[in-house]
Amino acid sequence: MPLVTTTEMFKKAYEGGYAIGAFNVNNMEIIQGITRAAKKLDAPVILQVSAGARKYASHGYLVAMVKAAAEETGLPIALHLDHGPDFETCKACIDGGFTSVMIDGSSLPYEENVALTKMVVEYAHAHGVVVEGELGTLAGVEDEVVVEEGHESYTNPDQVFDFVTRTGVDSLAIAIGTSHGAYKFKPGQKPQLRFDILEEVERRLPGFPIVLHGASSVNQEHIKMINEFGGKMPDAIGIPEDMLRKAASMAVCKINVDSDIRIAMTAAVRKHFAENPADFDPRKYLTPARNAIEEVVSHKIETVLGCGGKA
Ligand code: G3H
Ligand code: 13P
Ligand code: ZN
Repeated sequence: MPLVTTTEMFKKAYEGGYAIGAFNVNNMEIIQGITRAAKKLDAPVILQVSAGARKYASHGYLVAMVKAAAEETGLPIALHLDHGPDFETCKACIDGGFTSVMIDGSSLPYEENVALTKMVVEYAHAHGVVVEGELGTLAGVEDEVVVEEGHESYTNPDQVFDFVTRTGVDSLAIAIGTSHGAYKFKPGQKPQLRFDILEEVERRLPGFPIVLHGASSVNQEHIKMINEFGGKMPDAIGIPEDMLRKAASMAVCKINVDSDIRIAMTAAVRKHFAENPADFDPRKYLTPARNAIEEVVSHKIETVLGCGGKA
């Protein structure tokens, strides 16, 4: 099956009260781990590539591998640019086979964000590609951009209608208290999301697909495993799964997950080397890593996203 846009996926997800998983990819094993889970559970899926991942693996390899996964599985798969930093990167992805791009103007002044997003939408739509915009900033690290704690800002619901109508975006990422990376809350801190903001956004934009970034839950067993086998990760707290499920039953149609995959992969590789210190065949240690990714993604589809059987 050729790659698809997210239009149909989001329409069904909104109506059905579930969300599509958007997983960050940068190599073959990650793509295979995710799409094997999606295939097993008959789930539509979004594979997303950050600017950093695109630099690491190179555009052509990623597009070819994602296309291979779509052909092999027959699933509806969208290939999405995550946190597009500028018009040029979005254009290169639109011209180069992506079916969806995000332009992240969230740290710009409002009017500049509107102008940049509109420019990307005009180019994307002329080429059959959909666009995600963002309003409000998340704390945490993505590529070289670090948003310091205290400098993040929640999305202002008063702006969403104006932003969506003036830019023409197809989906909107909002900030309601999630953040990028493994360290979302301090030890002892009670995770909280601003569902009141999500409700208000939903009221202002009925039927419009909302995106949640920074949505890893951080599996404590994986953190324990990393530290048991030589790692030194501080206490890491993610977004509770029941909160994500609640968001998915509301207007949130796309839930972004990267850190959970990195952590699962790292735990599996560390365990493998602790138990097989003489191994030096990458296939030997990347097999448990790929299996761990498949397990994480299967769990997300079944417990959090609710998109199993919806392909
Ligand atoms: O939101 C950011 C993603 O986790 C991608 O991270 O830019 O390090 O590839 P990256
Ligand atoms: P996590 O760091 O919570 O996995 O978020 C990933 C993300 O938002 C990618 O855009
Ligand atoms: Zn993100």
